[in-house]
Amino acid sequence: MSSRSEPTAEHAEIAEDQGIPESSASSAISAVNQAAEYLPGGTYHTLSQNPDSAPEFLFSHGSGAYVYTTDGRRLLDIMLGHGSLMLGHCPPSVVEAVKAQAERGNTFTHVTQPAIELAKMMVEVVPCADKVRFINSGTEAVMLALRLVRAYTGKNKVLKFEGAYHGFADELLFSTNYGYPDRWPDYPAADPDSLGIPAGRQDHVLIAPWNDLDLTAEIVRNNLDDLAGIILEPVMRGLSSRPGFMEGMRELATEHNVPLIFDEVGTGFKLALGGAQEYYGVTPDLATFGKGLGSGYPIGAVAGSEEIMSYLDPASPDDARIFSLGSFHGNAVSTAAAVATIKGLREPGTYEHLTSYGNRLRDGLEELFQRFDLPVQMTGEANTVEWFFTTEPVTDYRSSLATNRGLKDRLAAQMRRHNVFGGGGRLGSSTAHGDTELSLTLEAMEASLVSLRDSGGLSG
Ligand SMILES: Cc1ncc(COP(=O)(O)O)c(C=O)c1O
Repeated sequence: MSSRSEPTAEHAEIAEDQGIPESSASSAISAVNQAAEYLPGGTYHTLSQNPDSAPEFLFSHGSGAYVYTTDGRRLLDIMLGHGSLMLGHCPPSVVEAVKAQAERGNTFTHVTQPAIELAKMMVEVVPCADKVRFINSGTEAVMLALRLVRAYTGKNKVLKFEGAYHGFADELLFSTNYGYPDRWPDYPAADPDSLGIPAGRQDHVLIAPWNDLDLTAEIVRNNLDDLAGIILEPVMRGLSSRPGFMEGMRELATEHNVPLIFDEVGTGFKLALGGAQEYYGVTPDLATFGKGLGSGYPIGAVAGSEEIMSYLDPASPDDARIFSLGSFHGNAVSTAAAVATIKGLREPGTYEHLTSYGNRLRDGLEELFQRFDLPVQMTGEANTVEWFFTTEPVTDYRSSLATNRGLKDRLAAQMRRHNVFGGGGRLGSSTAHGDTELSLTLEAMEASLVSLRDSGGLSG
């Protein structure tokens, strides 16, 4: 069975371009290849799902806006753990908090002080949060939110949007099209994205096209007798919502008494301290968090209204309570990391900086793409910067597929050659990114575009 490619001429060429001694480069390459001996396919991350687009190096460490490879390269990080590192790599206050807590202990099979502090902070800043429950990841947060709304409503089905990703659990791994990019079942039929999802699960999932309020409303109305909830990613895979869409979703959910869940794993603590719900001024009934909450330490959270969250209270009656326990839920190190993260994000000017950085990056990229005669639609919100190479408006998952996605992959590979990690879309920034990093990103993008133009890689 094939796994990663063996050291290639391209790897060697990059090393030479970067002035990396041959011995360091070849030991880094052999470390990358060694991974395949012990890890299936040598990987466990999104980036390397496509063996051809896997990075040709390993990281030794990160600091602020930069990451360093085992063979001595320094790259500007605009991937930032898919948006987890809002304060950059190893922010001193988070590292201090983690160290201090690790020395005091992590797991006590009882509520910890940092978890209480974190819950209090979240209740203060997240509009929908009367109460908070901690778990270990974004996937778990979504699983818990779904169990809550099913218990609360006594119903089964959940509506999600086509293309939206809500974690790898069986629950909602449908019509995200990780696996099958060209299958188009009719709405609201759900298509599984992985083998191994039990048959029948799709009967509990309804799929609607992003930004189409009318069709979504029709699907909701047709399924009211068994609809437990609606879940959405407020900036769906980097695709902004149409003006009025979020408000429309809120009205629809309220009108039919269906709980509305914002999956804020990607937007929480990112668009604003209070997440997308603060940014849009639209409050869901429940919200899920992960990623940006813990500066890269494993944590997830569900926040929501007292009425629904009371199903997590052990004192609630048997018919108004769910089971949800985990050995590491609310563990002291992750929650201490999150407390330090929120304190860092609460510093005055944080979101003004992040939003202005995102807007300048979006404008700079658009100007560059136009200079290279590339048809482009810029999307994303605030510090989430996304774009699609096409002349047509991109409003939903299907229109996002009818764009030149291969070019984005080629750009990401070129950006790595120009010492920037990320660059194939959904770019992030952190408080450690400033004018220097903005210029480096735009310069690397320009150099990448030149390289591709010269090699004929801009078309096709
Ligand atoms: C919106 C959204 N929900 C859920 C998840 C799953 O989170 P995790 O990877 O922490 O399980 C992700 C991760 O990419 C996400 O972006």
